[in-house]
Amino acid sequence: MSQIQNDNAPAANFYYFLCNPGSEKFLKEEIRLIYPELVFAYSTEGFLTFKETRPLGKTLRPVFCRHFGKFLRRGTYEELRSAWVGKALFYSLEGEIFETYEYKTGDWVKEIIKVSETQFYFGEFRAGILTAPSPGGFSTAVLPEESPSRAYLKVIDGLNYMGVKLPENDYALEIGSSPGGATYALLNMGLRVEGIDPGLMDPICSNNPKFKHHRQSIQDFHVSSLKDHVQWLYVDMNLAPEATLREIEKVVEAVRPSLKGAFITLKMTKFELVSRVPMYLNLVGKMGLNVVMATQLPSHKQEFLIYAE
Ligand SMILES: C[S@@+](CC[C@H](N)C(=O)[O-])C[C@H]1O[C@@H](n2cnc3c(N)ncnc32)[C@H](O)[C@@H]1O
Repeated sequence: MSQIQNDNAPAANFYYFLCNPGSEKFLKEEIRLIYPELVFAYSTEGFLTFKETRPLGKTLRPVFCRHFGKFLRRGTYEELRSAWVGKALFYSLEGEIFETYEYKTGDWVKEIIKVSETQFYFGEFRAGILTAPSPGGFSTAVLPEESPSRAYLKVIDGLNYMGVKLPENDYALEIGSSPGGATYALLNMGLRVEGIDPGLMDPICSNNPKFKHHRQSIQDFHVSSLKDHVQWLYVDMNLAPEATLREIEKVVEAVRPSLKGAFITLKMTKFELVSRVPMYLNLVGKMGLNVVMATQLPSHKQEFLIYAE
């Protein structure tokens, strides 16, 4: 049962979080461990609310969510609309976008979230890198039919989320590149791509003259072949996070002088790893990179993205 009052503004602060269905347990555990000031109040698939029982001592931005905001009130759509006549985003938890508008970093954005047929939440968030670039953090990307895998979407969603544009002809290195959805997205943007993966690449990638495949595991790969030309690093291996981070350390060291940004996907191979997420971010920092953001993307399953520069 919800603890949120149904009258006007609640006495305590409540926050709501949107995550990918299936990740609720990760988010709940992360908040329990990292933000003990917040106490769980209510959840439904892909949507959780928490009550602030003590003032938050740190910047709020859990990894296992796509978007979050401060709860203001709830009710029927008509009730919320009669209390707020200004601009507001309006979307459902299923990803239907009913109303949207242009806003910029720093704006306080109001939003109405359709949680069920009869239940609508009204909240606000300060637009910036910590909050989603699109209503509810739902993807605006479309998967091309010919893409070798859905990882195409992870590239587009990640760039949109970080507000990063990859210049044509820049060099990207992808570790864990087979069958090639992410590589295909990068090639489509005009990048030159090298992929490291013992698995086969789809011909749509391997036949592209801008692509080079190192058909081997990262353990067998000699970083001496990387001559300070890699500007963008993509990592998407189906290994435990510890193994992924251990294996990419030598690569990061080799490419750091030319590196502009790294998109590192870490897989939540088991629930217990939630408590280790701060350590993973630390390890990336120890590689000499500045962690800009760690977040779940709409195209993620049980995984999250670390973006570092
Ligand atoms: C989730 S898939 C990658 C999907 C890919 N990025 C795409 O866009 O289609 C994970 C990949 O990691 C690769 N992988 C697992 N262990 C690896 C290792 N030690 N070195 C290189 N690649 C590895 C697997 O072969 C697999 O192709």
